[in-house]
Amino acid sequence: MSSPADELGYGSIRLDRTGQAEAFDAIGDRYDEAFPHKEGQIAAAEWLIKSLPADSRVLDLGCGSGLPTARQVVEAGSQVVGVDLSAGMVALARQNVPAGDFRRADIADLRPGGPLDLGRFEAVTAFFSLLMLPRAEIPLALRTIHHLLLPGGLFALSMVEADVDDFSIPFIGNTIRVSGYLRDELREVVEAAGFEIAEESSFTYAPATADVPPEVQIFLRCRRQD
Ligand SMILES: C[S@@+](CC[C@H](N)C(=O)[O-])C[C@H]1O[C@@H](n2cnc3c(N)ncnc32)[C@H](O)[C@@H]1O
Repeated sequence: MSSPADELGYGSIRLDRTGQAEAFDAIGDRYDEAFPHKEGQIAAAEWLIKSLPADSRVLDLGCGSGLPTARQVVEAGSQVVGVDLSAGMVALARQNVPAGDFRRADIADLRPGGPLDLGRFEAVTAFFSLLMLPRAEIPLALRTIHHLLLPGGLFALSMVEADVDDFSIPFIGNTIRVSGYLRDELREVVEAAGFEIAEESSFTYAPATADVPPEVQIFLRCRRQD
């Protein structure tokens, strides 16, 4: 008999995270210096926060340093659970947002039947974190988020528009592997995982570092369907 994890398709995938956490351990708070303008991210989180009942639980997937999103959630009066693969980022998040609950874990650990059961959430954010997965895993991560949300729950996602799969790039003095989609395909992948896209916005963004080229950032505001 297949386990719930196998039902999502994780059973057939070998997870390869080589170098990903190490890169973010090394980058630390230089990430926030390289990406100082977070207006799009703040607006997407604000959309989600303002619809939440008091004392809601929000999961921030790939929370990084906890800035700005986990802090924004806490300051709005909700509870935040942040998950990140990088121990260094989790340590920064604990410093930056003492009221948050931060775990060093892999997004894949949260899959149905996986090793980390955090319960269900009113909302989930995943800002520039699903792009750290190979394309084969992104639909599985989205189904995992669907599973982690209460019915009608809200999900804010950002990705960089790019037609790439598990592609190595230089990033703030390190190398990371990233994936992405062109806009229409991203919408299709998100909708196929059981989300209605309520709003979309995009920005051309020039990071404040020479080794990350200008990028188009896409923000989707989504609601769990069914
Ligand atoms: C580009 S940063 C974005 C950080 C934060 N969400 C923000 O927007 O400021 C991506 C984050 O995802 C984390 N990450 C990468 N792969 C992950 C995985 N498989 N599971 C959990 N976190 C992961 C990295 O350690 C890093 O902190």
